[in-house]
Amino acid sequence: MSPAPYLLGDDDPELQRLAAQHEVWRAVTEEGWRRAGVADGDNVLDVGCGPGLTTVELARRVGPDGSVTGLEPSERFTYHLEACAAELALENIRVLRGDIADLDDEATFDHIHVRWVLCFLDEPAAAIGRLARALKPGGRLLTLDYFNYHAFALAPRIPAMAAVVRAVFDSWAASGGSLDVQGQTATACEQAGLRVTEIEQVSGITRPGEALFGWPEAFLRGYLPRLVDDGLLPWDTCRDFLEQWDRRKAEPGTFLYLPPLLRVIAEKPAGP
Ligand SMILES: C[S@@+](CC[C@H](N)C(=O)[O-])C[C@H]1O[C@@H](n2cnc3c(N)ncnc32)[C@H](O)[C@@H]1O
Repeated sequence: MSPAPYLLGDDDPELQRLAAQHEVWRAVTEEGWRRAGVADGDNVLDVGCGPGLTTVELARRVGPDGSVTGLEPSERFTYHLEACAAELALENIRVLRGDIADLDDEATFDHIHVRWVLCFLDEPAAAIGRLARALKPGGRLLTLDYFNYHAFALAPRIPAMAAVVRAVFDSWAASGGSLDVQGQTATACEQAGLRVTEIEQVSGITRPGEALFGWPEAFLRGYLPRLVDDGLLPWDTCRDFLEQWDRRKAEPGTFLYLPPLLRVIAEKPAGP
């Protein structure tokens, strides 16, 4: 059975959203690579790499003696990554069109990077089992994803936001994914024989006017019409939410509690 298409699609607006998202989360992402020990000469797998924003940076980080494989099911995203790699003359990038469910590598990679992918999977624990097998002994798995999405809130609170957050959460669930996924990742890693070395919340607070504030705002403005079309959000709740959001955003002291994002790092034991 072929996998369901990626919930958010691979058209130009999604490509632009991913690029803008990468800009605001670049420093956190690089900090994760530093903490996981991604270094010169490493062989890295970038799972669900999308158009390859992290793949390109990982390729620079590991240098010509290392290599990065970008695994991605979207044809359009893989073409994009191939074009970027060629334009930037990054010969250490390998692009693999495929699904995580088809990964059958064993003891191949020093590091595996999985950012904003587990939340789209219907069987994230099985995927982690496959990734654990693909790691070399001593290798590390680094994941970043959502937990406790219902905590996402504008403060002071606006009445329509809880319904919007619930509708986003339900739309993920309807597609087989979960915006709570990172609550299970550490357990799945341990069950797959990895040792969890870090569980860290990397999201926090942002205020209107900051680049980070624009990240969830752009997502919601783009996604809400779809929730209405899919019958997950009443049209008048959507309208009230946008009005309340704009009013609150203009008030001094407003802040946004971001949907909690957790970084989990796990290591494969080096063996006897
Ligand atoms: C939100 S994007 C994140 C892209 C990239 N990891 C980043 O952080 O910029 C999610 C990506 O996961 C990919 N994806 C979804 N389901 C997948 C699966 N079963 N196997 C591999 N990749 C998958 C999608 O095609 C999409 O490119």
